[in-house]
Amino acid sequence: MITVYVGSIEVFDGNLTIGNIAEFLIYVYLLTWPVTALGWITSIVQRASASQRRINEFLDEKTSIISLAKKNIDIKGSVEFKNVSFKYQDTGINGMSDVSFKLNAGDSLGIIGSTGSGKSTIANSILRLFDIDSGKILIDNIDIKKLDISYYRRQIGYVPQDVFLFSDTIENNILFGSEDNNFEKVKKAAENSDLTRNIESFPNKFKTKIGERGITLSGGQKQRISIARAIIKEPKILILDDCLSAVDTKTENIILENLKDIMKDKTSIIISHRISSVKLAKKILVIENGKVIEQGDHASLLKVKKSYYKLFQQQIESEKS
Ligand SMILES: Nc1ncnc2c1ncn2[C@@H]1O[C@H](COP(=O)(O)OP(=O)(O)OP(=O)(O)O)[C@@H](O)[C@H]1O
Ligand SMILES: [Mg+2]
Repeated sequence: MITVYVGSIEVFDGNLTIGNIAEFLIYVYLLTWPVTALGWITSIVQRASASQRRINEFLDEKTSIISLAKKNIDIKGSVEFKNVSFKYQDTGINGMSDVSFKLNAGDSLGIIGSTGSGKSTIANSILRLFDIDSGKILIDNIDIKKLDISYYRRQIGYVPQDVFLFSDTIENNILFGSEDNNFEKVKKAAENSDLTRNIESFPNKFKTKIGERGITLSGGQKQRISIARAIIKEPKILILDDCLSAVDTKTENIILENLKDIMKDKTSIIISHRISSVKLAKKILVIENGKVIEQGDHASLLKVKKSYYKLFQQQIESEKS
């Protein structure tokens, strides 16, 4: 506007022609886009460099979890905790206090306790997500610190408490982390996780996309995909961290029965708030404030009439009501 106004005065005075003004306006117009783009690109480059800095920090991160002997051992699956204690440094909370138990290869263990009692902490220490402060964790009678960590973890099926699924097909989500991609195995794992009837109702069956660009699954369906992902690895030790919380008791029973078959000679650890999930286990640990306050099987724990018995009574009452 100013160019046109000042230009017009200059034209009247005879210093400029209309052509000069038009020419000038065209130059300004031609320059607008490159200048805008320059600003735009500068901001993208700055953002990229900040992201790269953070990625580098992540890549340079050194783990404190170091294998002492790097033993590549095909484990059988016995797990023993000897007076294990662990404190979370940042909060000062005792995750485990003097925890001891023994599981032979092929045994099943149930871990029950109220929220925040330390159940996941025990599961995470079996995966060696952190190093314990004192005591010993023995896998097949070998100190967990001597095992090559990735070789060892590959033999464990772990269903975490917070399910993590990718925006991808159901098949690829189940296959994530397993080495071969055999569709028959995917179907079998889905069957054992009681997923088949759900998957059959989806538009593209196993090829159905889930997540942002696909269908939304219910909490229980997500948990069962996560279980299928763990069992397809045919792990020597299977850890289910509270992963039946969102399924009904009927589905839970179907899955537990299936697991009994597929985990026949393998070690399984089931963590839950509910008696119904752990009652079939050969051994049950009752956890409170990081301590094992009772251990035994369902029948013997009921007989002593302490915490487990009280929990059992409470849960029966709430089921009735
Ligand atoms: N990463 C962490 N850093 C600090 N404190 C933690 C961490 N994880 C857990 N805790 C604390 O340790 C205690 C035991 O936590 P844990 O997750 O083992 O309980 P939980 O029995 O699995 O509970 P829930 O049934 O709710 O899953 C809790 O008091 C919790 O606040
Ligand atoms: Mg937990």
